[in-house]
Amino acid sequence: MNISKFVTPEIIFGRGSLSQIGESAARIGASKVFLVSDEDVINAGWVDQALHYLHASGLETEIFSSLTTNPKDCEVTEGALRYTASGCDAIVAVGGGSPTDVAKAVAILASNGGTLQDYEGINRIIRPLPPMLIAPSTAGAGSEVSQFAIIVDTARKLKMSIISKSLVPDIAIVDPELLKTKDAVLAAATGLDALTHGIESYVSLACTPLTDIHALKAIELISRNLRQAVADRGDMEANTNMAMASLTAGIAFSNAILGATHAMTHQVDGLIDRHHGETNASILPHVMEFNLPACPERFREIAVALGEDVRGLNLADAAGRSIEAIRRLIADIGLAKGLGDIGLEEKFIPLLSRNAMKDACLVTNPRNATLEDIEAIFHKAM
Ligand SMILES: [Fe+2]
Repeated sequence: MNISKFVTPEIIFGRGSLSQIGESAARIGASKVFLVSDEDVINAGWVDQALHYLHASGLETEIFSSLTTNPKDCEVTEGALRYTASGCDAIVAVGGGSPTDVAKAVAILASNGGTLQDYEGINRIIRPLPPMLIAPSTAGAGSEVSQFAIIVDTARKLKMSIISKSLVPDIAIVDPELLKTKDAVLAAATGLDALTHGIESYVSLACTPLTDIHALKAIELISRNLRQAVADRGDMEANTNMAMASLTAGIAFSNAILGATHAMTHQVDGLIDRHHGETNASILPHVMEFNLPACPERFREIAVALGEDVRGLNLADAAGRSIEAIRRLIADIGLAKGLGDIGLEEKFIPLLSRNAMKDACLVTNPRNATLEDIEAIFHKAM
């Protein structure tokens, strides 16, 4: 018997939908909201807007923003202490993947106790979490719909993947207006992250027809809109399409899981603290080359979704077009850099490779990868 499961939160999508945040939080039982965000999002004015709507719905609030890009376990511990002391009864994130993952991780510790390391891996959260609502300000992480929280273990210098259905928020409010205040570099990096989610989930061993339609739609939307979204940050049609792409990619990878690219970037991100989308850009084409022989038909479909004309080509050439198209897109948005260019030293490759072998995302990679394979891909990506 072949059984598949598929989870998503309630999704509210559209320009101006942040206005729904107050009544939505009240509807999931909030009386005092723990609002997680970061300084950039606060300075852009989105937290003030969210507070306005939350207060208009009669809710009290407490803001937590002591967190960094590639959020750390110690920041989550502080957040959980603040949550417990504040008397809050619901968690809201307004921001990108970092505040969202911190919000989820705070929810874990506040309701289940212990340390985050206790929950690393798949399905290790036992007790129910507080009600959660996420409003993303970037089009990339997809954490607003996913059953993932990715947090840096500062002692081991790697990213822990915590995967559990209880991490799927109750409500995702996706307002493309929030995207217009992020800069072009962040738009490129987050968009490339979303693209990596679409590709890895489409070739994942855990893919299903339900995840395939979301993954392919995300790849198609990103290939048609990411260049424009990076070139003109005020183009709301491109921003809206990227918001939808990130959302659909998030739905796909939340249910199909990811692959070797993320198993590897999680290690690099924990070590050198660059944007996760940049490390994906350095590694993704090399992992695609490695994976292509395992599922060439799927890579041909990816090529088509990327807008490639593969008529008349044999399967290998058609599938290969997907990698060429990805390389062009990465170059066009300014992310064509090796891992060495973004600060990784070659001497760390053995350690990173050993840790990547233990990452939960490697389990669903379409081609079995040995330690030597992962090391070879890291060297190519330098
Ligand atoms: Fe990612």
